[in-house]
Amino acid sequence: MIRKAVIPAAGLGTRFLPATKAQPKEMLPIIDTPTIQYVVQEAVNSGIEDILIITGKGKRAIEDHFDRNFELEERLLQKEDEMYNEIMKLSDMANLYFIRQKEMAGLGDAIMYARQHTGDEPFAVLLGDTIIDSVMPVTQQLMDMYNQYQSSIIAVETVPADKVNRYGIVGGKRISDSILQLDQFVEKPTIEAAPSDLAIAGRYILTPGIFRALDETPKGKNNELQLTDALTNLLKREKVFSHTFEGKRYDIGNKLDFLKTNVEFALKHTEFATPFLSFLKEIVATYKD
Ligand code: G1P
Repeated sequence: MIRKAVIPAAGLGTRFLPATKAQPKEMLPIIDTPTIQYVVQEAVNSGIEDILIITGKGKRAIEDHFDRNFELEERLLQKEDEMYNEIMKLSDMANLYFIRQKEMAGLGDAIMYARQHTGDEPFAVLLGDTIIDSVMPVTQQLMDMYNQYQSSIIAVETVPADKVNRYGIVGGKRISDSILQLDQFVEKPTIEAAPSDLAIAGRYILTPGIFRALDETPKGKNNELQLTDALTNLLKREKVFSHTFEGKRYDIGNKLDFLKTNVEFALKHTEFATPFLSFLKEIVATYKD
């Protein structure tokens, strides 16, 4: 049974400078909601109430976002502002815990900080800069699979060949349409070195065995401790499976995807869908190829 989630949110956000010079990339909003709030909501919607967020230097706004703000609450209450309830709910979404990664030493190093908190339990990992929109939350899809396989499960999706060098890429033996038993993990390979076109998509269920595997893993790509490399070590003792999830992934740490995400979410938004679509049609008509 999975009871805990870990959200790594310590990355510097260099792909989104200058916006991320003094604010966390995880706080960049899609319409009016910070990315990390969608991620916490996905964990909560999957039935997880215990969430450890790995933060770091310059990430205080994340803690403040999920904390009470009495002055603001008082003001909203006085004005009978409908936002009052929304703001109150935020500090009550889940049991949130925070720990700071001391140096930017990679995703694997960030996960190491969860060791005390998760102990000998399996746990979910949701990358804090990735939103996945789906009917059933992807974390829940992975949790259901965990109940069947009792092993680490990695959410993957097919990516175009020219993008395999941006992701961790997996290889393995097909078990069903959406499931592979994995035997290879390569972090950001060249096309020639990629075992497949299946990319690690930012959602994982990991068994506690991952910590011993991380202990055994030397620094890898970019001189960082890579979670992807530790998964290779985990294979020495445990099976690992991938699940091609149902849903759409949005990588908010990347400027173009961030823009696209805002447009798509606006077109699905109850208040803005109609006026925003009219605006888009108008503006697109004024542009020629
Ligand atoms: C991380 C992981 C990579 C994964 C990616 C998904 O990379 O190391 O395996 O495919 O997230 O977004 P990052 O994007 O942090 O460089």
